[in-house]
Amino acid sequence: MAVLNVNIDHVATIRQARLADEPDPVWAAVECELAGANGITVHLRQDRRHINDRDVRVLKETVACKFNLEMSMAEPIVKIAEQIRPDQVTLVPENRAELTTEGGLDCVRHQQRLAQVVKRMHKKGILVSAFIVPASEQIVASAEAGCDAVELHTGMYANARTQKAVARRLAELVAGRDIGLERKLVVHAGHGLTYRNIDPVAAVEGLCEFNIGHSIVARAVLVGMRPATREMIELIGKHHA
Ligand code: PXP
Repeated sequence: MAVLNVNIDHVATIRQARLADEPDPVWAAVECELAGANGITVHLRQDRRHINDRDVRVLKETVACKFNLEMSMAEPIVKIAEQIRPDQVTLVPENRAELTTEGGLDCVRHQQRLAQVVKRMHKKGILVSAFIVPASEQIVASAEAGCDAVELHTGMYANARTQKAVARRLAELVAGRDIGLERKLVVHAGHGLTYRNIDPVAAVEGLCEFNIGHSIVARAVLVGMRPATREMIELIGKHHA
C-alpha cells in the first residue's frame, strides 16, 4: 500500500520570509497527521533556509507517525541525525544555489561515504533511503551501500510536457521500481508531484511511499493543511485500497 509523507519545508519558508515564529511547521505536522498522513518529511539544509534545528528537535518529540529527515551527507548534519534519531533519513545532494533539490544523489560516485553514513544510521536504528534518479547503476549502488530504500526522483516525469515524454519517464520509474525490488529495496518516489500529475505515478504498483511538499503546502495556503493533505491521500488511495 502506498502512503503519503508530507514535506512541510515550505511552511517554514513562509515563517522565514519574516524571520518570525509563525507559521510553525510543528502545527502543520499535527494537521497533516490528523488528516491521515503516513509521515512528515523535513529537509534540514546546511544553510537552514527554512527548517531549523529547533524544528527537527520538536518534530521528533511531537510527530507520532513516521518522521523522515531529508539531508545531505555533510558531517555536521549526519551528527545531528545521530542525535535526533528520526525514523528515517532520506539522503539527498545539496547545493547552496539551488531553489530545491536538483538531481539525485550520485550513489556511484559517493558509494564509500554512503556506506559509512548507512552504517552510522543503522547503529542508531534509523532507516536509510537514497534519493536517486531511476537509473540502474544508481539503484544497484544504493543497495550495495546498504540502503533500506530508494526514493526515485519523479522531477523529470513532472517536467515532461508531451505524452510521449511522460510515457518515457513513467517507464523509467517502472523499470527503476523493478530493479529496486529485485535488490530488496523499498521503493519510494517524490519531487514535483502535484494533484494533477500524481495519478499515473500512484497507479504504479510497488511504489510504497510518496514524498510531496510544494503542491500540498501551496494548496494548504488556500484551503488549510488538513483538507489539502486529505485530498492528496484520497488521490493516492484510489489506487491503493
Ligand atoms: N523528495 C525529495 C528528496 C525532495 O528533495 C523534495 C523537495 O524537498 C521532495 C521529495 C518534495 O518535492 P516537492 O516539494 O516538489 O513536492
